[in-house]
Amino acid sequence: MKKKTFYVTTPIYYVNDVPHIGHAYCTVIADVIARFKRLCKEEVFFLTGTDEHGQKVEKAAASRNLSPQDHVDKMVVPFKELWQRFDISYDDFIRTTQPRHVKVVQSIFKQLYDQGDIYKGNYEGWYCVHEETFYLESQLADGKCPECGRQVEWIKEESYYFKTSKYQEKLLKHIEDNPDFIKPESRRNEVISFINSGVMDVCVSRTTFKWGIPVPFDTDHIVYVWFDALINYLTGAGFMQDEKFDYRWPADIHLLGKDIIKFHAVIWPSMLYALGIDLPEHIWTTGFWTLGKEKISKSKGLVINPNELADQFGVDAIRYFFLKEIPVGADGEFSHEALIKRVNSDLANDLGNLLHRTIPMIKKYCNGRIPLCNKLEPINEKQSKVFLEIGSLINDLSLKTALETIWSDYVKAANKYIDDSAPWNLAKAGDKEKLDLVMYNLAECIRIIAVLIYPFMPKTAEKIWNQLGITDKIKDQKFPDSCKWGGLKPDTEIVGGEALFPRIEVES
Ligand code: MSP
Repeated sequence: MKKKTFYVTTPIYYVNDVPHIGHAYCTVIADVIARFKRLCKEEVFFLTGTDEHGQKVEKAAASRNLSPQDHVDKMVVPFKELWQRFDISYDDFIRTTQPRHVKVVQSIFKQLYDQGDIYKGNYEGWYCVHEETFYLESQLADGKCPECGRQVEWIKEESYYFKTSKYQEKLLKHIEDNPDFIKPESRRNEVISFINSGVMDVCVSRTTFKWGIPVPFDTDHIVYVWFDALINYLTGAGFMQDEKFDYRWPADIHLLGKDIIKFHAVIWPSMLYALGIDLPEHIWTTGFWTLGKEKISKSKGLVINPNELADQFGVDAIRYFFLKEIPVGADGEFSHEALIKRVNSDLANDLGNLLHRTIPMIKKYCNGRIPLCNKLEPINEKQSKVFLEIGSLINDLSLKTALETIWSDYVKAANKYIDDSAPWNLAKAGDKEKLDLVMYNLAECIRIIAVLIYPFMPKTAEKIWNQLGITDKIKDQKFPDSCKWGGLKPDTEIVGGEALFPRIEVES
């Protein structure tokens, strides 16, 4: 039997506006995992895309005097460009307006209706267009949307309902039996208490606007945007279209922000139960980047443009900052000062200096070639196995701790090794054997650092690799084998190059 593919997803992003750093954040995390799994030589399927239907997108199109289709066709471009710029290695990009998706959604809607899991009723209640969410009076906060604080609309319309309530007992048992199903723990608890408070059936169709997938047997109705959107995870994996679906599904990790946990951890599993399809392995929620403690959001006027950040600091500096600044799941306050501090201390100082002290020394003391080393031993004992621990941390999405460990046990350890072994004194004393050993060890340590940081900062890892003169491709390395000591071939000609991360001078 073919081995299960590792399947990771991001939320699909609304195309009412251009992407912001919240979108980039979640997508970068998914990319780190996908790249790491590929290094482990697992087959990976990484899906991202855009959520193109619904009232919010329809309104955005109207405000630009465009048809919804023209609007979404234009708005998807900045997302794709941003992912290319940020080295997002997705395998497929799904748009919910694609015919492949429309077909799957309509077929699922009909199946659930035919089997009695979808039924017709009338909805009367509150709706927040921005969140595309129905609310009970009791859920509102001071009469406003409890999530975004915007004005809600009273809507009254005929609607199809999905029997979410029918599956809650089964779902609760699944959550209780599988402590790692919803992560982190705080979100799991939130979902458990939400289910315990009583889950009602949800509306899954709308009639008062047009921009959506028509309900196949009742074309006055369009499918509710969330019902449509969640199904992307099936369509993208090839459901009803491709036999690859059989070894892609279930998804290993759905990554998403904490604001959309109920859709993913309550409604989505209920839909899968109704369809008789396995639940995803893990639902991992990320926190929010905030400005002045408020969620960064374009529509609130709190904007951090990821392209501008990339122009100013470079993509890898931002990827690193995202992952090092906060643990996955926690919120973080964004500031340029904090970003600059990180770049200067960890990247320019620690990592950059390590390279720019070592390479000139190899050029000077070893004729620019990696010396032969007779004693293949890491520069400290931890390095003989700590890379395995780093691998487990990445698998666990403890990305901050993984980076901390790479820095303490490799980057800083190597800088200290230079200070302690003082190669310049060995050169003066003519101790060629010891000098060669030290220079080999430093270059080897840098090689392993490149492999370990590759999932986090792919371009930087490649640059380091090129500076060392290694001709194999870094993406073809294998974890953990490539982190074992002694992989660097003696006599490799060092290439060198520019500073990886020039210090950012702050005007005072
Ligand atoms: N279209 C839905 C998702 C459907 S998935 C089947 C949606 N789209 S969104 O564009 O509004 O948001 C997408 C993701 O971006 C959410 O996971 C959300 O949490 C995340 N972020 C939006 N702002 C954010 C921050 N300020 N910080 C971190 N992530 C945040 O919801």
